Amino acid sequence: MADSAKLGTNFTGVQMSPKDTKRLLDAVNEIHPDVPGDSKGIMLERTTRAEDADRIGSVPVPGSAKGMLKSTFDMALGKSPELLVDKLGERLAFERSGVRMYDAMIAKAKAISMADSDLIGVLQHIRDEEFEHMNMVAEAIETLGADPTAQTPCADIAGVKSMGVMQVLTDPRTNIAQGINALLTLELEDNAAWELLIELAEAGGHPRIAKGFHKAKEQEDDHLIKIKTLLRRDLVRQVQ
Ligand SMILES: [Fe+2]
Repeated sequence: MADSAKLGTNFTGVQMSPKDTKRLLDAVNEIHPDVPGDSKGIMLERTTRAEDADRIGSVPVPGSAKGMLKSTFDMALGKSPELLVDKLGERLAFERSGVRMYDAMIAKAKAISMADSDLIGVLQHIRDEEFEHMNMVAEAIETLGADPTAQTPCADIAGVKSMGVMQVLTDPRTNIAQGINALLTLELEDNAAWELLIELAEAGGHPRIAKGFHKAKEQEDDHLIKIKTLLRRDLVRQVQ
């Protein structure tokens, strides 16, 4: 794994061959796509399909008989408990994959011969807090009488969305700064998502759940600062 970007033979830009670039531009005018239509066609197709499509899954019904038996069961289910359960399911999926992504980043950091123990320590600290958040959300879902093992629609989408970040982190060729940059994407969303979740829990009539989530939000604020600092430190060091 390389530490930083290096100069090398890269043929992807047009400046590599001005002569071929001219021929390419000429070809664009001479050879037309063999598929009729333009980008309007795909837009129309997407609109038609969106109109006909079903939803992405459904939310399990909260307040199950099993959930009702729990002494911690929160009777105030609010106006749309399914929305809160859906967003809690999303947070649970996100925090769970967050733990795995930090594990991937720690492995990457350890691969560097002169392993920076400070870097690994920070990553481990954030990883452990994401794990804490995961358990906190699972508990909140149970409090609402719902099933934390069910994949909600937003949880499904969270998994799809994080695929790119996971690919960057598990690619053995990506370096520390590239990995941390991928984690920054994660932390920026994590931060905004906790903020929204607290608001939703409060608006939905669950002040106790919201109160517990404030601790997670404070930790997420700290994650964001730590990841931004790590990225800045790694890159600025290289340009100086
Ligand atoms: Fe985080």
